Amino acid sequence: MRLAAAGCVAAAAEAAILVEHAPDGPTLERWVRRREAGEPLAWITGVVAFAGRPLAVDAGVYVPRPQTEELAARAAALLPPAGVAIDLCTGAGAVAAHLRAARPGALVVGIDLDPVAARCARGNGVPAIVGDLAAPVRHGVGVDVVTAVAPYVPTSALRTLPADVQRYEPRVALDGGPDGLAVVGRVVDAAAWMLRPGGWLLLEVGGDQDAGLVPRLDGAGFVGVERWRDDDGDLRGIAARRAPISADP
Ligand SMILES: C[S@@+](CC[C@H](N)C(=O)[O-])C[C@H]1O[C@@H](n2cnc3c(N)ncnc32)[C@H](O)[C@@H]1O
Repeated sequence: MRLAAAGCVAAAAEAAILVEHAPDGPTLERWVRRREAGEPLAWITGVVAFAGRPLAVDAGVYVPRPQTEELAARAAALLPPAGVAIDLCTGAGAVAAHLRAARPGALVVGIDLDPVAARCARGNGVPAIVGDLAAPVRHGVGVDVVTAVAPYVPTSALRTLPADVQRYEPRVALDGGPDGLAVVGRVVDAAAWMLRPGGWLLLEVGGDQDAGLVPRLDGAGFVGVERWRDDDGDLRGIAARRAPISADP
């Protein structure tokens, strides 16, 4: 099988997706060649499944990962039916689109530095703004939930990512600086500024990044830190709550 020979780990599943989406034989042949060259499958077909729904992914935009579905599900459970959510670093809008589907009465907005990503998110029905984290947001909006799958790979670990990811996916989507927390730390401050008291921040992180992040959350006034892990026990995310206003006199 050609995809297996080209080094695709899930060759049979990928072949089935290419066959399912290709409109004709010549297109399928072109697509197989692109995949053999390492181009992300979702850029070739233009779509990826996220949380059980198809999501359009334009070439050049980070491909949403299955591991992010847990963050999206947790965020949806925390978002009031008519609440407000901001998805920082929205990319193709995977998390925001999930929130909109789960809470049709809520206001959900995505923000991304990359205009190509913001356009892609809009194509997925997400009102998306181009900007640096919370820069486009007015003070005092009283947001209920802030989500962010910000770049969190330490710069020194970028070379350990699969070759295709290194070659094709945008570095601005991956590179989290020396400890991986350069953007994530700024997200904490931005979320503290946007969230209403009692509102929730949900972040995707990995490795032992919670050790560096928890003090930062404490310092920014967050409480009730929760971590979640995958089936292998690896850290996948952190949620924390902006301290509620005390009812005590
Ligand atoms: C790892 S991708 C995640 C995309 C999406 N949330 C997802 O899960 O599929 C990170 C995204 O953050 C964006 N980004 C990086 N730095 C940013 C910043 N300072 N402000 C806003 N977006 C940023 C990148 O353009 C990229 O789309």
